[in-house]
Amino acid sequence: MYKTHSCNELRSSHSGQTVTLAGWVHRRRDHGGVTFFDLRDRDGLVQVVVNPDSTEEGYELAEAARPEWVLQIKGVVQSRPEGMENPQLDTGDIEVSAVRVRVLNKAKTPPFPINEETEVDEQVRLKYRYMDLRRSRMRKNLENRYHIIRYIRNFLDQRGFWEIETPILFKTTPEGARDYLVPSRVYPGEFYALPQSPQQLKQMLMVAGVERYFQIARCFRDEDQRGDRQPEFTQLDMEMSFVERDDVMGLIEEMFTSLVDELFPEKTILSRPWPRLTYQEAMERFGKDNPDLRFGMELQNINDLAEGCRFKVFEQTVANGGDVRGFNAKGCGGYSRKQVDELIEFVARYGARGLATLGLTENGEVKSTFTKFLDNETVQAVIARFEAQPGDLLVFVADKPAVVYESLGRLRVFLGERLGLRDPDTLAFCWVVDFPFVNWNEDEARWDPSHHLFTAPMPEDAHFLDTDPGKARGQQYDLVLNDYEIAGGSIRIHERAMQEKVFELIGLDIDVARERFGHMLEAFEYGTPPHGGIAPGIDRICMLLSGEPNIREVIPFPKNQVARDVMAGAPSEVEEKQLTDLHLSSTRTPGQV
Ligand code: AMO
Ligand code: AMP
Repeated sequence: MYKTHSCNELRSSHSGQTVTLAGWVHRRRDHGGVTFFDLRDRDGLVQVVVNPDSTEEGYELAEAARPEWVLQIKGVVQSRPEGMENPQLDTGDIEVSAVRVRVLNKAKTPPFPINEETEVDEQVRLKYRYMDLRRSRMRKNLENRYHIIRYIRNFLDQRGFWEIETPILFKTTPEGARDYLVPSRVYPGEFYALPQSPQQLKQMLMVAGVERYFQIARCFRDEDQRGDRQPEFTQLDMEMSFVERDDVMGLIEEMFTSLVDELFPEKTILSRPWPRLTYQEAMERFGKDNPDLRFGMELQNINDLAEGCRFKVFEQTVANGGDVRGFNAKGCGGYSRKQVDELIEFVARYGARGLATLGLTENGEVKSTFTKFLDNETVQAVIARFEAQPGDLLVFVADKPAVVYESLGRLRVFLGERLGLRDPDTLAFCWVVDFPFVNWNEDEARWDPSHHLFTAPMPEDAHFLDTDPGKARGQQYDLVLNDYEIAGGSIRIHERAMQEKVFELIGLDIDVARERFGHMLEAFEYGTPPHGGIAPGIDRICMLLSGEPNIREVIPFPKNQVARDVMAGAPSEVEEKQLTDLHLSSTRTPGQV
């Protein structure tokens, strides 16, 4: 037996016992003829003292040992001398006095310190991920992730869900991204697609009569990387039969509320029950359908005041059917010209052609880029609408609604962050519902589903599909937490005629639709129950609950920002023979990356 105890479990009550431990040298120091080191294993640290009087040979080995060497220690647990206790450490009341030291393995000098939370270049961390994962931050993140998934499994088990695996080698499952394809060796020129989600398969399970399904499912999407997006990621994929949207939402709300209460008692859920916003409301108040509700500074429309106000930019925007909106950046009234310019640059990235500002100095004076054009009454009305106090800064964008929302929505979050209003220990869950069923895609001149192809329209809006599709709302619901969309789901279409109608609406040729989704259309004719589901993104949830800035920190082996695994070096070239077997040849030109 390599170890009788784990490092972190030893307490004063073990005093006098002889124990065997195994782990890594965390930190070592020599003290006048005695060597001390912290031995670390997965569960924590314990101090080991090696005195040559107890073990001459052990003392020599301990002196030679370096950080990250793997040691086995046999020793006696003893109370630390008075005044030498370390309250920072769970095992801080005791130490282990070694009687034998065995070197199980040596280690080269680590590429970065494991025993300090120093800033290390992420590419280096990813290259030596197995070392990075030894550090306490990452170890904690791994543990949190495991506990979250375990909680979910138990919760759903108690509510009659079955965990069922679905294939990875499948057919295209459109969720709006590009597919990863796997060439078939057996069928020249044919490909499997990796699932962007198990959407169709879970619906098939409902047709199959499973009624309550879940899976901790890996999903693959070939899309541009971001802090909250990876090419492969994990969903808690769920589907239920004989449900309406409130049933699905209610279950998810109960699950995450109890999960947070149980596993993260130090965190506060801002509102219970979780607020529900319509898509329209979320856009109007926050400029985005994944709002951060931890702070105010809500957007407001001033079209009524802008109309005919004599400030050209505002007047003309309204006259052309655009919007003028703004928000109150609380306490930013003292911003310098340079600071305001920085905000203008910020919104320009999202297409805004300018940012009109109105600051109130500490003694209530108006400092503004545009009020000189307005009469005093209008200026006062603007100030009143935003309840501006001395020291506040009002910011406005006039443009097409999409640009106004995007630029101000992001600026609000940017300033909220800068003003320290985004406390990671506060969890502002909210539901967003009543999304438009389809969105007009300017570039392709067609309707795109706002969630996915299989989402049902609101029954009372179904008639719009024939007359005015843009007016129809879908039975979609998104779960939002602190500025992130953490889950999306919907009640599904379960009738062939409606599914075909939707294919047609989004411009999918009926023959193509039958070739791609014939199995679903056919299945719908064999007694498909009404059903719906949802898929929380596990990585994003772990990120937010672990207080991390991006999902790479909660994925043991993530891809970097340019979709590479830098530890193993993937993707990589393959042998010519493999390509031949797969009936493939490369069109890459020499030097092309
Ligand atoms: P959707 O595409 O909205 O829905 O995805 C659900 C949730 O998955 C997470 N997510 C991601 N996380 C990390 N990296 C990515 N690239 C990524 N893409 C999505 C998000 C998102 O809210 N089949 C439907 C679900 C359903 O209708 O039941 C689906 O996949 O947290
Ligand atoms: P100008 O008349 O271009 O000098 O602009 C006067 C002020 O209005 C400047 O502060 C601009 O940043 C701002 N501004 C210009 N265009 C817009 C716009 N579309 N929305 C909001 N403010 C704008």
